[in-house]
Amino acid sequence: MCGIIAAVAKRDVADILLEGLQRLEYRGYDSAGIAIIDSEANFTRHRRLGKVQILADDVKEQNIKGGTGIAHTRWATHGVPSENNAHPHLSRQIALVHNGIIENHQALREDLIKKGYLFESETDTEVIAHLIDAEFERSGSLFDAVQTCIPKLKGSYAIVIFDITDPSRIIAARSGSPIVVGLGNGENFVASDQLALLHLTQRFMFLEEGDIAEITDKEIHVFNNLGDLVQREIQESNPEQDICEKGPFRHFMQKEIFEQPKALLNTIQGRLSETQVITPSFGTDAASIFSKIEHIQIVACGTSYNAGLTAKYWFESLSRVSCDVEIASEFRYRHFIARPNTLFLTLSQSGETADTLAALRLAKEKDFLCTMSICNVARSSLVRESDIVFLTHAGREIGVASTKAFTTQLIALLMLVTSIGKEKKHLDDKTELSIVQALHALPQHIEEALTFDKEIEKLAKNFTNKQHSLFLGRGALYPIAMEAALKLKEISYIHAEAYAAGELKHGPLALVDAQMPVVVIAPNNDLLDKLKSNIEEVRARGGELILFTDKTTAFQKDKNIKIIALPYVNELIAPIYFTVPMQLLAYHVALIKGTDVDQPRNLAKAVTVE
Ligand code: M6R
Repeated sequence: MCGIIAAVAKRDVADILLEGLQRLEYRGYDSAGIAIIDSEANFTRHRRLGKVQILADDVKEQNIKGGTGIAHTRWATHGVPSENNAHPHLSRQIALVHNGIIENHQALREDLIKKGYLFESETDTEVIAHLIDAEFERSGSLFDAVQTCIPKLKGSYAIVIFDITDPSRIIAARSGSPIVVGLGNGENFVASDQLALLHLTQRFMFLEEGDIAEITDKEIHVFNNLGDLVQREIQESNPEQDICEKGPFRHFMQKEIFEQPKALLNTIQGRLSETQVITPSFGTDAASIFSKIEHIQIVACGTSYNAGLTAKYWFESLSRVSCDVEIASEFRYRHFIARPNTLFLTLSQSGETADTLAALRLAKEKDFLCTMSICNVARSSLVRESDIVFLTHAGREIGVASTKAFTTQLIALLMLVTSIGKEKKHLDDKTELSIVQALHALPQHIEEALTFDKEIEKLAKNFTNKQHSLFLGRGALYPIAMEAALKLKEISYIHAEAYAAGELKHGPLALVDAQMPVVVIAPNNDLLDKLKSNIEEVRARGGELILFTDKTTAFQKDKNIKIIALPYVNELIAPIYFTVPMQLLAYHVALIKGTDVDQPRNLAKAVTVE
């Protein structure tokens, strides 16, 4: 989604802002822009369609100077990707960048047109610039103008504004989209994501919902939604955790796939003893809350939703608690009935996904036992607003295609399942011990799975000229097939559908011919014989089978069956383990296709709009 960076400094800030934009590229965007003023209020604005580098080359050529500026990467929502629609937007003296969506923009636009404003873009953002300009003209104070306009906006926004005749200050405001202020020495910065500022400072102040901040090079004044001057905590970043280099890897996605053993280890560390899941790692009240749970409602989007679907199998078989899983954008717009003593559980890498956050806010108004989130970003809105939080310690995930965030969500969920089962006395010590042992062994198993990289790279060639593919699984491996299909679609643009293998004969079998790669996740478990019948159904129709199995299953290769046989692992952790070769497959197919692996077209890392 869109990205913001801004600065008030004594030095020239163009390079700083452009580097910040480059750091935000992972979020997904289609155009970029920058506006700068120098100490004599000489103003320039540049906007370009396409990569930040195009904008950077342009800015360099023009040798732009000035210590106060705002910059933006835009991911189109209202209006096509174009230079005119790119930010910053101007209204007379006002320059403004915006993340989010203004839902009542049409009504505001009509009103402003009546007042004589001319619109240069199709965006909802330009409405905010004109609205503030109208107030600014009336009151003469930019801060007051912003404060007066904010209540007129419906929707979500993070905005940064300055008066192009006054280099001394910028104003930032948030509601529904994050804003962080970076504190420098004699200079201050603002961004939509801390990552954009890590080359400038380690000290940060996170604005809260409804905050408006006035920022000069020396001072930061924050006002809450009641207009009161407030102090927001200053937090130091952890440089080791925040590091975001590719190192020896070609892509962030590849790096993140290979980081999984460490990410999993970090997520279990201190939360598992040799024999038990430590329930207080879910919070001091966790034991008493967990013992009361009668139902679990999981809500999430995309990959996180697939993690939830996997957990449903575990919740119902291991902790013997019923569980529903729903896509957040559906959940938030339907009439749902909260069953008694239901734990409302959101899953999210970013903690800023608009639909998931909206679902949580809705749930808080209903009669749920408790809200909980499993999230990878400690300072996210989801974390701040949930009653119980369990952080996955995957480290920053840059690749748009989620990898380590998914496997760490799964390991967190398996720990949660165990803890709830134990507190409800549905799960005995022996079962807990076998889960805990399997969890301890998992990082090493993932290391082994990663050694199949070269073999999977060769296999990826089978997808070279393919337009479509099927992914099959059964039981808890079915959501893993869904995740595998999502990964392939997302980064290779090959159409991929996942089916529960038993469902094949109810329709999708009609698609199978020699042009259709059918990937089957087939570890040795209770459902293997059933799966073998489904595999035969594909084979009989000439389908091109690719089996991901383990060495104990004794499948025979032939010219229509390619096999990757991994070492056997305990079936409890097989969904996490088999995810890794699926990620490698998607990655290598994308390399063959020559796509932009880390920033696939049309996609954004954190989907902060509906
Ligand atoms: O940050 P979240 O986990 O809430 O994000 C949810 C989805 O947008 C995300 O998982 C998306 O599907 C990924 N790009 C998948 O790789």
